[in-house]
Amino acid sequence: MKPLPPLLLILACLATPAGHARAFPDPGQKPAPGNEQPQVPLSQAGYRPEVNYQLQCAGCHLPQGQGAPANDVPNMIGFVGNFLRVPGGKEFLVRVPGVAQAALNDEQLAALLNWILRRDGIAGDSTPADAQPYSADDVAAIRHRMMDNIPGTRAGLIRAMRDQGIDINDGMPASTP
Ligand code: HEC
Repeated sequence: MKPLPPLLLILACLATPAGHARAFPDPGQKPAPGNEQPQVPLSQAGYRPEVNYQLQCAGCHLPQGQGAPANDVPNMIGFVGNFLRVPGGKEFLVRVPGVAQAALNDEQLAALLNWILRRDGIAGDSTPADAQPYSADDVAAIRHRMMDNIPGTRAGLIRAMRDQGIDINDGMPASTP
């Protein structure tokens, strides 16, 4: 198309009604049809643990829990339950930032950890057969206690596992002796 001559262009701009100038986001905008309900926060949505896992955890831990050791995310498959075999490990699993700071309430987090730790799930038989499940109260009691030195704490727990003869298959280069 041929460009408009300059005078015509100026006239075209002046003729544009001021109402056409749009504010973003448009405060008067209506939701798309079928989307009128306000969004429900995840902590009130009542999803199953496996759905919460995909929404809140899988971005780092990947869909099956295989992790991404190159990005410092440990493998959990067949391993994560070993934390329940060493002193302080049960607390550690609640206090890692991805868990403690998830957009989930205490009950949902307890259910999610219990789901990850199932012996027919991600943790497999790394979880001791007599492990006590987390309750919402367990999570509430420790979730908000910040952990100062996460890598140091984790390394100590891994050492304690190794002292028990546990095979450290978390995929992390730092855990290779
Ligand atoms: C931003 C990335 C990220 C997200 C999101 C995340 N994690 Fe993690 N997670 C990590 C990293 C990295 C570690 C290793 C310890 C550390 O550095 O915090 C870890 C450690 C863990 C551990 C301890 C296992 C171990 O071997 O150290 C558990 C259990 C865990 N995460 C569960 C979860 C759950 C459940 C969620 C979702 C509610 C979640 N994480 C969300 C990155 C994440």
